[in-house]
Amino acid sequence: MTLNMAENVPVVDFQHVPQTAAADRLKKLTENFEKRFGCKPEFFGRAPGRVNLIGEHIDYCGYSVLPMAIEQDVVIAAAATKSQEVLLSNVKSDLYSDFEFPINNVDINKDHPRWQDYFQCGFLGMVEHLQLQSTACGMRCMVDGSVPPSSGLSSSSALVCCSALVTMHANGQSLPKDKLADMCARCERYIGTQGGGMDQAISFMAQKGTAKLIEFNPLKATDVYLPDGISFVISNSCVEMNKAATSEFNTRVLECRIATQILAKKKDLQWANFQRLGDVQKALNLSLPQAVELVQKLLHKEPYTRSEICQILEMKEEDFVNNVLSARTTHVQSFKLFQRATHVFSEAGRVLSFKHICDEADPSAPQKLGALMNESHTSCRDMYECSCTDLDNLVNICLESGALGSRLTGAGWGGCAVSMVPTNEVMKFLVKVKENFYDKIPSKAALVGTSLFATQPGSGAMIYLPSSS
Ligand code: GLA
Repeated sequence: MTLNMAENVPVVDFQHVPQTAAADRLKKLTENFEKRFGCKPEFFGRAPGRVNLIGEHIDYCGYSVLPMAIEQDVVIAAAATKSQEVLLSNVKSDLYSDFEFPINNVDINKDHPRWQDYFQCGFLGMVEHLQLQSTACGMRCMVDGSVPPSSGLSSSSALVCCSALVTMHANGQSLPKDKLADMCARCERYIGTQGGGMDQAISFMAQKGTAKLIEFNPLKATDVYLPDGISFVISNSCVEMNKAATSEFNTRVLECRIATQILAKKKDLQWANFQRLGDVQKALNLSLPQAVELVQKLLHKEPYTRSEICQILEMKEEDFVNNVLSARTTHVQSFKLFQRATHVFSEAGRVLSFKHICDEADPSAPQKLGALMNESHTSCRDMYECSCTDLDNLVNICLESGALGSRLTGAGWGGCAVSMVPTNEVMKFLVKVKENFYDKIPSKAALVGTSLFATQPGSGAMIYLPSSS
């Protein structure tokens, strides 16, 4: 099923939340809110994190990805106020201090992003979208996040999406999910990272029980039914990687853009009009394997220097510095265009194969999907260079422990691996990974409960209203 794009975020009465851990959490959040602000919250916003099954670092090149939402999320208890201020508090007050900001003076710290900066991105994005610059209501917000931070499970986007959602609802508005996802992808870039739109799209468009093929331009989410008898297990390498705090992420985005423009130039296209590898492939009317061949023919394996790029694009080095280099990449001197473009075109092909295998309901689907996941990890590690030693080690241990496929998920350079495991072997798998990875490193052993867990495709963003009863 392809999601109806005009659909808005569901608003659920609190009393319909099953009496589970989720309901307990809302109650606890209410207590925290009352203690901090001396009144009851009016409503709750919720936005989940995600695990990407395949399709890494290709959303910003225009290609489809295949994530699913996880149960871990950000929930914000909120109440609108007549003041011109937003008062922000976090349940984990020892880690995240209170913060206040005036509605017309958002102050995002790009150099050292703090938790409140992600909240402010979502707030500002919504205020600008609704043109409420000086008329937005104030808010009291109590935030509770359960997505492990800097782990590749999209904790930042869950906070941005949830902040935009509560700002929308507090101001009496309702927007379709695709508009929210597009808007949140744009406003998260206020933090200085040039991410694609995967995390925000799945946070709003996810549905319980199904992974999604997310396509861009226009945004579209199609159900992907995973074969019976397999489960996905997430394991955290415990190497923290905050993509907003380093230059690696934006450097890869930049390398892809330069590769795009050089390929376009070499094929006599109006190269300056091309920003994404997907657009050049389309303009040349090539299949993905043909695009990989084109890279082999037109780009070289040795890193490109600034002066070589300027020579090819017939551009002055000064213009390259001013117009091509971007936030956090002004220092970069060499660019691995062959490797990055090869990864992107081949990974885009693996996503389509993954979806195709799921659609076919082939009895050997689990083995085939596992092989694609393994190829994806190898390409991320060797061609995109977005893994790290601990993560590679963890992926190997997962494979030795019975996974049919295992790969890094999310931006990489640390964070989590996702493994596909036969459902009836999950328990055995968990024990082995614990013994061979976590128990070997005492500082990691204590983290097993939150760092190693099986997951199911979860539901997307929601608004909860306190029960009227
Ligand atoms: C981050 C970005 C996404 C995507 C992934 C890598 O999560 O926010 O848009 O690029 O990295 O696949």
